[in-house]
Amino acid sequence: MLSSPCKSYEPRDIQNCKFEARNPGEASRRDRLETSKNSKPEQGNILQKLGNLNFGLISIFDIRISDLHKLNRGYPMDDKLKQLAHSIVIAKRVVVFSGAGLSTESGIPDFRSPGGVWDRYDPEDFAFQNFLASEASREKYWQMATEFYKPIKTAQPNQAHLAVAELERLGKLDCVITQNIDGLHFKAGNSEERVIQLHGTAIFVSCLSCKKRYDRDEIQERILRGQKAPRCDDCGGLLKPATVSFGQSMPERETQEAYHRSSTCDLFIVVGSSLVVQPAASMPLVAKRNGARLVIINRDPTPYDDMADVVVHGQAGSTMASILEYVRKELGAG
Ligand code: APR
Repeated sequence: MLSSPCKSYEPRDIQNCKFEARNPGEASRRDRLETSKNSKPEQGNILQKLGNLNFGLISIFDIRISDLHKLNRGYPMDDKLKQLAHSIVIAKRVVVFSGAGLSTESGIPDFRSPGGVWDRYDPEDFAFQNFLASEASREKYWQMATEFYKPIKTAQPNQAHLAVAELERLGKLDCVITQNIDGLHFKAGNSEERVIQLHGTAIFVSCLSCKKRYDRDEIQERILRGQKAPRCDDCGGLLKPATVSFGQSMPERETQEAYHRSSTCDLFIVVGSSLVVQPAASMPLVAKRNGARLVIINRDPTPYDDMADVVVHGQAGSTMASILEYVRKELGAG
């Protein structure tokens, strides 16, 4: 399974964390299989780390655990979504945690589904250490990153992004913590201060030495003109998309902010993530430990489904659109 270099899930430890699937190559193939109902060992460890969590009394919508059981098994989907909408309306701080599954309906492949990014590329080739190691690795990296950027450049937000943006407009969103690098939450209308990009952004390129930022399209132009591994105009340093690669340090401010928001929210909604990459995947646990209700909306099961208050296995777009419709109705927003 995956490991995090952090010894615990305390926010103070997180600043030195590296973004890491223990062995990315292995993770790509195995995690897809292990992100299933059978992935219990890691969850057991996490629960031990979390200590005295009282799951039994926590319920979404103030109903008893037996009702929750019904809600998750065999409860009509529409009623479930109506209840979820109600939970958003009554919540004081709603955090949406998004993963690549939120953007697949915009034409951007996720990582671990069949046909996903890690089926087509070897994650080792994206590892930070390799990027630093040689000019040949950097050229290969840029070649792959250029391919990967193509659908991102033209993608438009889908129903799920639009629903999240509308939650902000309705005053029902504390923040979005996203693992996505595609910038689609912004294109959908979420504001800069409400989106925490935990894994950076593909929309910019930065110099690893002097930190100068470049517009991605400007650098892609250079690649088109024949540069294979571009360098900084100012200092000659290595240019790299402003994303966080395997083995690269997590952005300190964003990571701390994400932990803070996770620990202070009262409703935490995961949308479209396999929840297997640390430290991002520990956010729902931090939220749960601090008393938030946990909702997981994902096409496939995740290792944390059993500890969630409500799980919806479905498409992010239509699910979020239905929830939003009910939220608007309940708020009298039309
Ligand atoms: N609706 C709902 N769920 C979906 C949809 C959809 N339309 N499409 C895909 N999914 C689900 C898949 O079932 C899968 O469980 O989204 C999940 C995507 O999981 P991953 O591909 O693992 O993506 P993510 O969780 O964001 O990965 C985390 O891993 O390699 C790194 O940098 C990468 O930020 C990424 C991190």
